Amino acid sequence: MLRQSHSFSFEVLDTETELLPADMALLKMARVAIGNAYAPYSKFRVGAAARLANGHTVSGSNQENASFPAGICAERVLLSAIAALHPNTAIETIAISYQPEEKESEHPISPCGICRQSLLEYEHRMNHPIRLILAGMKGRVFIIPRADSLLPLAFTNDELA
Ligand code: THU
Repeated sequence: MLRQSHSFSFEVLDTETELLPADMALLKMARVAIGNAYAPYSKFRVGAAARLANGHTVSGSNQENASFPAGICAERVLLSAIAALHPNTAIETIAISYQPEEKESEHPISPCGICRQSLLEYEHRMNHPIRLILAGMKGRVFIIPRADSLLPLAFTNDELA
């Protein structure tokens, strides 16, 4: 029997004041994007912003629907916007923040499973790691060097003929 293990390391900042200026600017952009969220059902608004290899920045927010499964997370709205506006462009960093209606936003949230799958495929497709900056409106900040570390044993297109 062989036992394998998976681990990854990431940075935990006590406050966003420790961020580099470009990263702080991206986090602010993600927070601005929260304002464009359409989340009347969950009342959980999420914003995401990406800095691309070509120097451009793009943002997105969650967009819900009365047919609940039709709703899309901020991260996948962002990936689709990038694919539409900047085809075949690597993503350097994505910042993600959120604001629930009746709760504090004082710790980082991390992408849901479907978004992890989508981030991983974008990363592999461009052969370029996507760095993630995760933060609430205040409190600690997580910096994760590459998105695919959040999805060990992923199903990938390697399996498809
Ligand atoms: N959501 C995101 O946009 N990103 C995440 O990382 C987690 C969840 C959205 C989906 C839904 O609109 C709402 O937050 C509540 O799940």
